[in-house]
Formats: sequence, C-alpha cells, structure tokens
Amino acid sequence: MTTPSIVILDFGSQYTQLIARRIREQNVFSAVLPCTASIAEIEAQNPIGIVLSGGPCSVYDADAPPADPAVLDLGLPVLGICYGLQFITHHLGGRVRSAEKREYGHAEVEIVDAHNALFAELPASLHVWMSHGDEALDLPPGFHLTAKTSSAVAGIASPERRIWAVQFHPEVHHTKQGTALLRNFLFNICNAQPDWTPEHFIQSTIAAIREKVGDGHAICALSGGVDSSVAAVLVHRAIGDRLTCVFVDNGVLRKNEFAKVQQNLRDKLGLKLVAVDASKRFLSRLAGITDPEAKRKIIGNEFIAVFDDEAHRIAAETGGVDFLVQGTLYPDVIESSSVKGPSQTIKSHHNVGGLPETMKLKLIEPLRDLFKDEVRRIGRDLQMPADILQRQPFPGPGLAVRILGEITAERVALLQEADDIVVTEIRNAGLYEKIWQSFAVLLPVKSVGVMGDQRTYAYTCAIRAVHSEDGMTADWVPLPYDVLKTISSRIVNEVRGINRVVYDITSKPPGTIEWE
Ligand code: XMP
Repeated sequence: MTTPSIVILDFGSQYTQLIARRIREQNVFSAVLPCTASIAEIEAQNPIGIVLSGGPCSVYDADAPPADPAVLDLGLPVLGICYGLQFITHHLGGRVRSAEKREYGHAEVEIVDAHNALFAELPASLHVWMSHGDEALDLPPGFHLTAKTSSAVAGIASPERRIWAVQFHPEVHHTKQGTALLRNFLFNICNAQPDWTPEHFIQSTIAAIREKVGDGHAICALSGGVDSSVAAVLVHRAIGDRLTCVFVDNGVLRKNEFAKVQQNLRDKLGLKLVAVDASKRFLSRLAGITDPEAKRKIIGNEFIAVFDDEAHRIAAETGGVDFLVQGTLYPDVIESSSVKGPSQTIKSHHNVGGLPETMKLKLIEPLRDLFKDEVRRIGRDLQMPADILQRQPFPGPGLAVRILGEITAERVALLQEADDIVVTEIRNAGLYEKIWQSFAVLLPVKSVGVMGDQRTYAYTCAIRAVHSEDGMTADWVPLPYDVLKTISSRIVNEVRGINRVVYDITSKPPGTIEWE
C-alpha cells in the first residue's frame, strides 16, 4: 500500500509547493495533483485528507480550473485555502462575489468559533497573510462562520461534512500561527501519523527498489551533484554492485573535477564507477560553434551517444542491463502535470541520464517524491560527505554555458582557473553554503590593460553570485567588497589571459542565472 498522504489539489497558486513542504515538515507525506485529477487518481494516493490550494482565477471565470466537486463528497477531511474556500462555497450552494478591492498582504483575523478543531489552542486573533480578489458572501447550507476580518469572511466550516476552509494562507510564514493551524488539520482532524521520516523513506525506498529490480542490473549517469549521487547511493544500498555508475568528462568540467568526483563516488561512497574521458570528442564537436542553443544541443546529444556506448558495453559485461536510475525531483514531476501547462522554452536543459533509447530501459527515480532540501536531508541520513550534499548546482552543459562565443581548450582552461579562484575565495569567506550559485563567466571581449610597464590586451571575466530557492527566480548577491577585491586581484594576477573583472548585478528575471 502506498504511504498515507494528504493530497493537495493545485488550482495554480504560487504557494502550492509551499503547502506540500509545510505538511512534509510535520513528517506527513503530501502529494500535489493538478486540480483536474480524477477521483480515481486522487484515491490512488491513499489520501487521509485533501487540501484545496489557492489559485489566480475566480470561480466565475470561463477558464476557472475544472475540478470535480465530487472530491468534497469522499468523506475525507477537506481543508480549503483561499480559492479553495471559494470553490467550496460556490459548489455547495453558497455565493462568492468579487471584492471591492483586492486584499493583499498582512491582515488581522478574529476567530469567532473557538471550539473549531482547526483553531484548537490558537489565540483569539490571528495575524495572517491574505491574497485574494473574490470573497464568500453567503455560506453554503450547513456551514457556519469560524473567522472573520473587519470586513470579510476569513473562515468557514461544516464539521458534519468534515470540511474546513480559510481565506488566508496558513502555509506562508507571514501567517504567524500557520503551522499550528496546519498541525491541527493533520493531527486533530485527519489523524495523521508523523511517521514519514528520513529513516522511513530510506527503508521503504530501498525495499521498493529491491522488489522492482529483482536480480536485474541498473546503470546510472552521475555528475557528482547532489541529486544523482543520492539517487545512486539509495540504489546501491538496495542492489549493491548490480548498479554501475557512469561519469563522463565532457571537456567542460571544472578544475580537477574529473579526479575529485571519482574520488568522492568511488572511494568515499563505494560506488561501482566507470569514468569516461570523452573530453576530446566533445571539444571537437563544439569547435567553431557560438550559438548558445546549438552548444547545448551538441553537448546533450553527445552525452547521450557516449552514455549509450557505455551502457551497451556494461550490458555485454553483466549479461544485460534492465534499469536506468535518474535523480528526477518532485518539482519536475509537478511541473510536467501542472494546470498551468507547459511554459515557454528559455533554454533546452540537459540533465545527466539521457535515456539510451534502443535499450528500452525501465526507469528508477527514487527521489521523484522529494524536494531538494529533502534530498539533502536523506543524504545526511545516508552519511554522505558534506561536500557532495552542500555542492552548489552545476549545469549539465558545464562551463560551456559560461564561455560566451566559441569553446576552445584554451578558453576552458582560462575559465577553470578563474572559476577555481571564485569558488575558493567564496569558501574562504564562509559564504559558499549561503549562496545558491557563485561562479565566473568568460566573455569574448578583449580590452586593454597595463601590468607592470606592459600593455595587455586580454579577455574579460564576469563574476556571478545569486541567492535562489529553486533556480526559478534569483537575486544577485551583494558580495562584500573585500571578497570581490580579492577575487578580482587574484584572477588578474594569476590567470594569464584575463585582465579585467566585472560583477554581474542582474537578478532573474529579467536575467537568467547562467549566461547562455
Ligand atoms: P538559468 O540559467 O535558466 O538556470 O536561470 C537555472 C538553474 O538551472 C541550472 N541549469 C541547468 N541545470 N542542466 C542542468 O542540470 C542544464 O542544462 C542547465 N541549464 C541551467 C543553472 O545552473 C541554475 O541553477
């Protein structure tokens, strides 16, 4: 039986993933489904409660997300949040109207039904976060008011029908008692057990992998990053050396990375690893190419070709390979089934694990239920080294998306040196783990400089450092001047071929994190 879960039906709110995380922080599993999910799909999640998320629409919009109101009749406890409250009101015979002005930001809420299970042990007035344009005007039959603001309905309930709803957002940290409210829903109303712990996850995942793989063989493409490494370690715990990992040097790795990653994966984690130096092959395909998308496509395709060759070789050695391990995370899973539909392609992402198509491998994705910080937590419980778990994200196409213009061995070497100085100095300043990503970018711009009495004419290097939660948006980091000063003077003095350093002060949007 699948783990009991709280199912969150996503009506398109920017906070939906936050609801899932807040519930999981209480060691209760939560699954996000698009609001269009069928009742059978909801039931397949073994739900013990349902949360209806907020969303940008009005229940009266022609394109309001078409959720099945039968979800309110399953007999399971339901918590409606914001749009969820309006959905309940509208479908159960109440009335919703457009508010005179959109309510956005902090608000005070008065609890008018202190005996309500959702508000147990909460103070009589709550400081909350609101974000809505519509409001409930008439409550559905059988419902009563549980909370209000000075002008509007803030909470309703029908304990007989096991339905509760609030107009504000308990998942947002500005709502002071939000966690207490969610805990009331989980533990007082849904009778959830706080047993979805890292230990439980590890044990049940290992057992499930063992059952799925039987006595088969699996392969895995590793990058040395957090996700693929944690996925590989979980599978290795389950099937040992029947998992072979492949790590490819694509010619655009960071300084000493090929050796360092091998040491981490083979020596520290005990994985069975095949390391392939394909750098010449990649660099010759990249020669003369300057278009960012063309570079990405070449690296992606070449990677699949190299990995495919290795997979066939391993299959010949082991008598056959049946499974491919991938480090897919939950945000990718949600994104691919989102109510918002596919977003425009800004960059064609390449991730390790290009599927060898001809081999018809079955997928093992042990992390597909987890968020990034949960993966780190699992990694810690698996006793994986901190330098793997805390590693900043590094893109699949590597330094290629940080070398503007043509990629040559000489330019790769320049950027490797500059990048190594940036990372070293950021670490020395104690900032590495506080920053989402920090790196150097090599620009195809040459300028005049002077060193000693000599005129120089050399490349420019840009420094980029960003804070981000998930890479979707990012803020540039105001690095301390003394750190910038050390980085700049070290690069100009130590890297022959770069004579100017600039700092990128663009956030995302409108910039992207990588330059290509
Ligand atoms: P952008 O540049 O789109 O990057 O703002 C967002 C995040 O994604 C990383 N990135 C990639 N990761 N394969 C990856 O695995 C890729 O092709 C790729 N391109 C960008 C980037 O480093 C940042 O964390």
